Amino acid sequence: MNLANGYMIPDIGFGTFKTPDGEICVNAVREAIAVGYTHIDTAAIYQNEVSVGEGVRQSGKARNELFITSKVWNSERGYDKTLHACEKTLKDLGTDYLDLYLIHWPANKLQFGEKAEAINVDTWKAMERLADEKLVRSIGLSNFYPHHMEPILAMANIAPTVDQIEYHPGLLQEDTIELCRKNDILVEAWSPLGRGHLLDNPVLAEIAGQHGKSPAQIILRWVLQNNVLPLVKSVHAERIRENYDIFDFELTHQEMKAIDTLPDARFGSNPDTVEF
Ligand SMILES: NC(=O)c1ccc[n+]([C@@H]2O[C@H](COP(=O)([O-])OP(=O)(O)OC[C@H]3O[C@@H](n4cnc5c(N)ncnc54)[C@H](OP(=O)(O)O)[C@@H]3O)[C@@H](O)[C@H]2O)c1
Repeated sequence: MNLANGYMIPDIGFGTFKTPDGEICVNAVREAIAVGYTHIDTAAIYQNEVSVGEGVRQSGKARNELFITSKVWNSERGYDKTLHACEKTLKDLGTDYLDLYLIHWPANKLQFGEKAEAINVDTWKAMERLADEKLVRSIGLSNFYPHHMEPILAMANIAPTVDQIEYHPGLLQEDTIELCRKNDILVEAWSPLGRGHLLDNPVLAEIAGQHGKSPAQIILRWVLQNNVLPLVKSVHAERIRENYDIFDFELTHQEMKAIDTLPDARFGSNPDTVEF
C-alpha cells in the first residue's frame, strides 16, 4: 500500500502489544521478519522497544527494508514532551528514524474538558517538527474519531497519513473510515482478531473450511479486502507464519458481507471515555 505522502507501507504489520520484553519479544520479531513481515508496530507504552530493536538487528535485514512504527504515549502529550518521547523511542529501538510515528490516543473531553483540542494540536505541531527534522518519515494518529481528527486536519501543515483504530468483525467504525477515505488517510486495524476472542465464530469457521484456511486468516483477509491494513500480534512461530499466509486467496463478495454482519464487539477502550 502507499501512504498519501508517497512512502510505501507493507500490507500487513506485526504487532507487539503485550509481547513481554526480553527474549520472547526478540524471538517473535526475528521470527516475524524471517517469515516475511517487513512492518513492525510498537509503542513506548509496550515497554519492549529495546527488544523490538534487538529482534530487528538479529533478523539481519537492512533498516531500509523494514517499516517501523511507534507511538507517543498519553503522559507525553504536548510539544516538548512529544519531542523527548520520540528521542527516547529512537534510542531504545536503536534506529535513527521511524517510518511512522503516531499519537497513541487523543486527549479527550472527559479528561481534559475544553483543553483537549489544544493539547492534541500542540502534540501535532511536535509531530510535524519531527517530520521536518527527518527523525520520522510519516506521522499519523491512533484512536482518533472524526471529532478528534477534524481540528488537526484544519491546522496541519503536514497531513496525518494514518489512523490506527480498533477494527475487526463487529466493530466497523464506518464514520471514522469515511473521514479517513475523504482525506486520503490510511486506516490500520488494531486487534483484528479481537485479541483472539473472535476466532471460534461458526460463520468464520465455515468460510475458513471453504478456503482451507484458519478463522484468523479469514479475518485478516477480510480486513485487507476492506482496504484496511491489519496489525496482528503473536508470540508463537506457527501463528506468526499462519497470519502472514493470507496473500494466496480471496474472499467472495458474499463472504465479505457475511463477515460484516457478525455481532457487535469491542475489546479495547473507547477513545471518548478512556481515562488513561
Ligand atoms: N493503537 C492502539 O491503541 C493499539 C491497541 C491495541 C493494539 N495495537 C497494535 O495492534 C496489534 C494487534 O492487536 P492485538 O495484539 O491487541 O490483538 P490481535 O492481533 O487481534 O490478537 C492477538 C491475540 O491473538 C492470539 N493469536 C494471534 N494469532 C492467532 C492465531 N492465528 N490463532 C489463534 N490465536 C492467535 C495471540 O496469542 P499469542 O501471542 O499467544 O499467539 C494474542 O493473544 C498490537 O500487537 C499492537 O501492535 C494498537
